[in-house]
Amino acid sequence: MGIITIDESKCTKDGVCARECMAGIIRQPEGDYPRIAERHEVLCRLCGHCVAVCPHGALSHEAVRIDDSPPIKSELGISEAQAVHFLRSRRSIRSYKDKPVERETIQRLIEVARYAPTAGNTQLVEWVVISGKARIGEIAAETARSLREALDKNPSLAVSAPYLPGVLATFDTGCDSMLWNAPALLIASAPAGAINGMVDLTIALSSLDLLAPAMGLGTCWAGLLQRAILSSPSFKESLGVPPAHPHHYPMMIGYPNVKFYRLPERKPPKITFR
Ligand SMILES: Cc1cc2nc3c(=O)[nH]c(=O)nc-3n(C[C@H](O)[C@H](O)[C@H](O)COP(=O)(O)O)c2cc1C
Repeated sequence: MGIITIDESKCTKDGVCARECMAGIIRQPEGDYPRIAERHEVLCRLCGHCVAVCPHGALSHEAVRIDDSPPIKSELGISEAQAVHFLRSRRSIRSYKDKPVERETIQRLIEVARYAPTAGNTQLVEWVVISGKARIGEIAAETARSLREALDKNPSLAVSAPYLPGVLATFDTGCDSMLWNAPALLIASAPAGAINGMVDLTIALSSLDLLAPAMGLGTCWAGLLQRAILSSPSFKESLGVPPAHPHHYPMMIGYPNVKFYRLPERKPPKITFR
């Protein structure tokens, strides 16, 4: 038996699976059932398009089983207006309730984020979850220390990041302007072998960022922490990011202590149609 199985009682030999296969390895000889030559199986990207595109539910894949691939519910689709409103109402959250985020809730978020696309469907993004305000307070302090050191060494940093001296001054007054007293931090990372690792993990984090409000949560990309991690391998290691993962990005997460009532305007897009 090969990596795909055809239910001959359902297959109409319409060739849809063969046309959709991005690796071009599904062959459908005239009047016959689709199949993958054994020597070509190694080229399969395990994307599951062959399973997802068959209108008859006739094809299963050993790695993407039809029983694990639920039908798309058209009644759950959203309109353009709903999609635009949903995307425009996403906000960075910098004020969190003094309430921990349950491990199970973070697990549910990541379970969805793992469906984000990855180049070549490599699915190499991994996650570190850090919880507890005391630990995150220590990380914020280390971030401030590291950024202050970077600024002392290279004062021109204040040109590319003019907000930095102010952020550090605010931190010194006891206000956590690094990680905003978030109760939890997520760090998505990917190994060097993921050729588009930074893009892959950014899309996964973006998916999580968009899903979080539906679970009552708010997020904020932690760019200052990222900068600090990049400048210190030992800091990166102390956070539990695998040393062999050159790609990473942290995100704060917690229950929001703020509510927004309007959709703020942004710069108009610069577009060149050619
Ligand atoms: C890559 C990235 C890094 C960011 N880093 C930080 C950060 O370190 N601290 C912070 O408070 N906000 C950070 N933000 C949030 C931005 O400031 C915010 O997205 C922007 O002001 C627009 O606001 P909005 O997200 O509510 O639309 C970051 C956003 C992105 C996309």
